[in-house]
Amino acid sequence: MKKADIIIDKYFLTGDVNRRIFGSFIEHLGRAVYEGIYQKNSPFADEQGFRKDTLSLVKELQVPIVRYPGGNFVSGFHWEDSVGPTDQRPARPELAWGVIETNEFGLNEFADWSRQAGNEIMMAVNLGTRGPEDAKNLLEYCNFKGGTYYSDLRKAHGYKDPHNIKVWCLGNEMDGPWQMGHKTAAEYGRIAAETSRLMKFMDPTIETVACGSSNLTMPTFGEWEYTVLSECYDEVDYLSLHQYYGNQADDTRDFLANSNGMDDFISGVVSICDAVKAKKHSKKQINLSFDEWNVWYHSNEQDKQLEKWIQAPHQLEDIYNFEDALLVGSMLITLLRHADRVKIACLAQLVNVIAPIMTSDTGAWRQTIFYPYLHASVYGSGTVLNTQVCAPTYECKTYGEVSTLDSVCVWNQEAETLTIFAVNKDLDEDLETSCDLRQFEGYQVAEHIVLTNDDMKAVNTEANPNNVAPTHSNASRIENGRLHTVFGKHSWNVIRLVKS
Ligand code: AHR
Repeated sequence: MKKADIIIDKYFLTGDVNRRIFGSFIEHLGRAVYEGIYQKNSPFADEQGFRKDTLSLVKELQVPIVRYPGGNFVSGFHWEDSVGPTDQRPARPELAWGVIETNEFGLNEFADWSRQAGNEIMMAVNLGTRGPEDAKNLLEYCNFKGGTYYSDLRKAHGYKDPHNIKVWCLGNEMDGPWQMGHKTAAEYGRIAAETSRLMKFMDPTIETVACGSSNLTMPTFGEWEYTVLSECYDEVDYLSLHQYYGNQADDTRDFLANSNGMDDFISGVVSICDAVKAKKHSKKQINLSFDEWNVWYHSNEQDKQLEKWIQAPHQLEDIYNFEDALLVGSMLITLLRHADRVKIACLAQLVNVIAPIMTSDTGAWRQTIFYPYLHASVYGSGTVLNTQVCAPTYECKTYGEVSTLDSVCVWNQEAETLTIFAVNKDLDEDLETSCDLRQFEGYQVAEHIVLTNDDMKAVNTEANPNNVAPTHSNASRIENGRLHTVFGKHSWNVIRLVKS
């Protein structure tokens, strides 16, 4: 059997996990809102029209923060359309996705939904077709206590208390030619700086996120980050990253190596942030918000056939298979390994649209990618140990020689737990792995969760929702202070150690 080592030291720390890295995203797109989180006449709806079956799965995931309302959608969004009496809200042509937006569900409904789901809101403002003035008004509506035009309007709409939203995205993917109101880096950097400044005059407790590149292959990548930050470094708190991966070539080994691309992307953006910091002689550190990440490609062809100007179509409804879950697991490990700089991340998206949760008229179910996301969110709190991995490698087309094993250890000193997340990408062989745990005296294996499947293309469907589901392994044991385990071929693993 092939062999690997995981090396940790309790004094060698990467950083504390900010739980916001287990965030997600709801855009007014496809059936994310309508039929996803909200469906007035569904048998699953509560009195506000929120789908209880979706809510229960969102709570199971313990999603800490949800980005809203877009995405590309936000770049044409008039937030005023989405508040006040529902029967007076205008329906609009929604240009980002070529559909009709009724505005039946809006900002206040989302605030109510978030409260029920137990998550914080990460709100985006429109810097495509609008600008600082509208962003400031929206903030006044959401966060001002009262006694002003927009805060009193909120009260008149039935919301006496401010929503108190702390994290604000300054637009979305403004480097993308597909974006409404797309801008050059210099144009965007200026407007981001001014918008953030005005918003912080209104509420100095907020944190703002400037748009980085829409993905690593954008021709403007690098230059974009540097120019944008040169303009707005002092005004903003985070820079965003977005990245989706596909497997169009049906090359599983290459596909699974994409976590290396994500790792390079994060390291590159950290370097650019720090270059601007050095040039400015600044003491401030810009952290990263990886606020869109996932696998996305299964639905591309069917989406080309979609009829335009209808409401809530089946759009971006990727049905995820088992290998997608492995890559999602590796991407979560990558985010954790960068816990020192990645402070927010959003799995895009949450329901129906490239999502871990799907709904239909018969209920809601978990896609394959639900499970690594669940495990990371529920067991990934604490301090990331600077985890070294010695494992066999393999050659792949895009990234050359890569490790078969992705792994990270998270130590929760308070709860006295140590969690090892690992993906064995070897398609043919199990990996006998060991880890010296002598510094973690008294820790015992509580469980070893595994997600694996003989069929890399296996999916969960409405008819067969538990086709891909986690099981337990008894391959983990501690002997003379050393953990001995086996990571089965092509598997996601969570080894939970608890001090007895
Ligand atoms: O998440 C789907 C879309 O992907 C978002 O609207 C956009 O920001 C990105 O290109």
